Amino acid sequence: MSFDTIIANGTVVNANGSEQADVAVSGETIAKVGRGLAKKAADGARIIDAKGCYVIPGGIDVHVHLALPFCGTVSADDYDSGTKAAARGGVTTVIDFAIPYGDETLHDALNNWKNKAAGKACVDYTFHIAVTKWDRHRHEMRALVDAGFPTFKQFMIYAKEGWQADDAAIFGALEQCRELGGMLLVHCESSRVLDELIERHHTEDEMHRLGARLHAVTRPNYIEYEAIQRAVTWAEATGGRLYVVHMSTAEGTDIIRRAHKRGLDHVFAETCAQYLVLDDSLFDGPDGHLFACCPQIKKKRDQRRLWDGLVDGDVCAVSTDTCTFTREQKAMWNGDWTKIPMGLPGLETLLPIVYTHGVLKGRLKMRQFVNLVSTNPAKIMGLYPTKGVITRGADADIAIIHPKKRLTVEPGQMETNCDWSPYGGWSLAGFARTTLSRGRVIVDDYRFCGENGWGRLLTRKSAGKA
Ligand code: URP
Ligand code: ZN
Ligand code: ZN
Repeated sequence: MSFDTIIANGTVVNANGSEQADVAVSGETIAKVGRGLAKKAADGARIIDAKGCYVIPGGIDVHVHLALPFCGTVSADDYDSGTKAAARGGVTTVIDFAIPYGDETLHDALNNWKNKAAGKACVDYTFHIAVTKWDRHRHEMRALVDAGFPTFKQFMIYAKEGWQADDAAIFGALEQCRELGGMLLVHCESSRVLDELIERHHTEDEMHRLGARLHAVTRPNYIEYEAIQRAVTWAEATGGRLYVVHMSTAEGTDIIRRAHKRGLDHVFAETCAQYLVLDDSLFDGPDGHLFACCPQIKKKRDQRRLWDGLVDGDVCAVSTDTCTFTREQKAMWNGDWTKIPMGLPGLETLLPIVYTHGVLKGRLKMRQFVNLVSTNPAKIMGLYPTKGVITRGADADIAIIHPKKRLTVEPGQMETNCDWSPYGGWSLAGFARTTLSRGRVIVDDYRFCGENGWGRLLTRKSAGKA
C-alpha cells in the first residue's frame, strides 16, 4: 500500500469514540484508519510514532479576529502570527469576521479580509460576514451564501465602530437566514442599559478608585442575558438559525437550555476558553485592564454553569474570540476603562485550556473534548465531514497530543505576537506535539515548521446543522 504518511500506534479519538489505530494519509486527505497500517506500508512513507498519544481531528476555532482595526488600534495577531499560534495549539482551521467599514459593501469586506490572509495564512481559514448596515447589506446576503459564505454576524453594541445592529436588523437578518439557509451569529449585549451604566460611572472619582473594575461594574450579567433572551425570541419568531457568540453567563446558558427544551434546535451558543477558567477578581489586580474583553469575564458560578452547559450539549462549542492587544496597546486606556482595546489572545492555548481544565479535571470525556473543539464547530459551520473528523476521505487535519506532558505558558516563547498571556505561568497539557494541516506536518516536537501561504480559503454550502 502506498501512503505518504502514517501516524502509527496512537489512540484515535473522534466525537463518537476512540480506538487504537493507525491513520494513513495520501496527499492532503486521510486514506485509511485501521490497525497495522504502518507494518504494511511501502518504503518511503513517513511514519510518525504516536505511541501513548491521542490523535485527534485538528481544532476548529470558529471565532477569531486577526489584524482587526478596533478600539483605535489594530489587533496584534495577524494571519502570520495568528495562524502560527493556531497551529502550535493544534488548531487547523480558523473562522474570522469580515467587517465592512464606512460605506463598504459585504463584498468589499470579504475582499479586504481575503487580502489580509492571502500569502500569510499557515492553516485553513474562512469568514463570517458582518452585516453592519442592514438597509444596504441585506441585498447582498444571497450572493454571499451562493459564494460559499453562509454565516453572518451582527453586533448589538459597538455603535462607535459603526457596527451596531438594532432589533429590526437582527429580526430581518434572521428572516433572511431562514430563507437562504444561512445562520446569524450575534454578539448579545444590551447596549442602551450598558451605555446608561457607563455614563453613570464615568466620573474621575470612580475611575480613580475602581480603575479596570469598572469594566465589570458596568456589565452586570443582565447586560448579556437580556440580550440573549431577545435574540432567542427573534430566532423563535422567525425560524432563522441563531448562533450566540462568546456566551459568558450562567443565566444565558439557562436561556439556551430552555430554548432547546422548547425544541428550538436552530439555536446554538458557544462559549470561549477565557469564560471557563478566568474570573473577574482579575480586574482588581495591577494588570486588571489587560483582561478587558467584551463581554467581560464573569464569576466562578458562571464558569461552573458554562461547563455544565458544555457537558449537557446546550453550549455547543468552545472558541477563543482571539483579539490580541499587546501591553503597549492596552496602555492606551490611561486609567479610563472605556478606552481599553477590548480583547484577549487565545488561539495558541484553546486546546490546552479545554483539555487541561476539562478532560484532566474530569469534567469532559476525551470524545466530548473533541466534539467541542472540532466536530461540532465543523458541523455547525458547514465544514463537516471535510473537517472535524478522522475518517477516510476527510482532510488530514490532525493534532497529536500527549495526555500528560505539560508546558508552562510563557508569551516570549510562543508564536503569538502578544507580550503577555491571560494564562501566563500556567502549566498546561494539550499543546500539539505534532500538527498536520491537509497532510503536511506544520508543528513538530511542539515547534511550528509550516509555511506562510499554505492555508487555504474554505467555502461552505450550509450552516447551522449539528
Ligand atoms: O473583546 C472582544 N471580544 N473583542 C473582539 C470583538 C468582539 O466583540 O468579538
Ligand atoms: Zn463580540
Ligand atoms: Zn469576537
